[in-house]
Amino acid sequence: MAEREGAGRVDIVGAGPGAADLLTVRARDLLAAAEVVVHDRLVSDAVLAFAPGARRIDVGKTPDGPSWRQADIDALLVSLARAGARVVRLKSGDPGVYGRLDEEMDALDAAGVPFEICPGVTAALAAAASARVSLTRRGRNSSLRVLTGRDVDGFAEHDWRALAAPGATAAIYMGVGAADFLRTRLLRAGADPSTPVTAVDNASRPNERTAAAVLGELPDALRRAGVSGPSILLLGLSPRDAAPRAAEPSAPTLAALRAAGDFL
Ligand SMILES: C[S@@+](CC[C@H](N)C(=O)[O-])C[C@H]1O[C@@H](n2cnc3c(N)ncnc32)[C@H](O)[C@@H]1O
Repeated sequence: MAEREGAGRVDIVGAGPGAADLLTVRARDLLAAAEVVVHDRLVSDAVLAFAPGARRIDVGKTPDGPSWRQADIDALLVSLARAGARVVRLKSGDPGVYGRLDEEMDALDAAGVPFEICPGVTAALAAAASARVSLTRRGRNSSLRVLTGRDVDGFAEHDWRALAAPGATAAIYMGVGAADFLRTRLLRAGADPSTPVTAVDNASRPNERTAAAVLGELPDALRRAGVSGPSILLLGLSPRDAAPRAAEPSAPTLAALRAAGDFL
């Protein structure tokens, strides 16, 4: 690594959901030119392989294990750039979706370090493609919500009444551990227990799996299906192969989903 005092920069790059060929061409070029890659836990080896000559620093945060503090990651980026390195800050999916992007941009701005953002394919898009569903559909849903199951205070609160409305569609990140909470809140807000939910585990990766469930049975269905994460829950959507075409655009029945089995 040839670090030059003061000449460094940081590119904050979306690594996509895991499959190497879902990386953008711009991301690939930035990785090839990087001297240091500072990456998250969910970034796949297949993507890291695009930066064979770069020093790699894993700053992944594991839910239960030792973790880097965000402030330390911010300081690391600043110090590498100040030392003159060309740094890629590589985040899974898109950097601006549950990626703590603002904190890193604020730290770089405060230090006067130049940076650019390179978008990536966020997990919800890969999950929808895996389940072969459209995230919007005429006559069914004209909007799509992006939610997290958890936030800094624990389980995340949302506009449950809006989410419980017929046809409401949402891509839920970090939702598996919050499945019981999500079900309870949505049913209490009037959601139909037969509302379909599709879980896509490891979207775009070799171990990708898709499980069909209904809201009323969500935690049990995820447990039975062995959904382990990382996963996206698609509320209001059934996998194309499970949904009886004639029943669209209304939700498929509980019996139809049971007949399709948990796994496709
Ligand atoms: C901290 S968020 C990061 C999201 C990322 N920035 C994005 O745009 O996809 C991590 C969560 O993203 C989701 N996720 C990331 N990669 C995934 C994948 N390949 N398949 C399914 N879900 C994924 C999971 O919900 C996981 O808990």
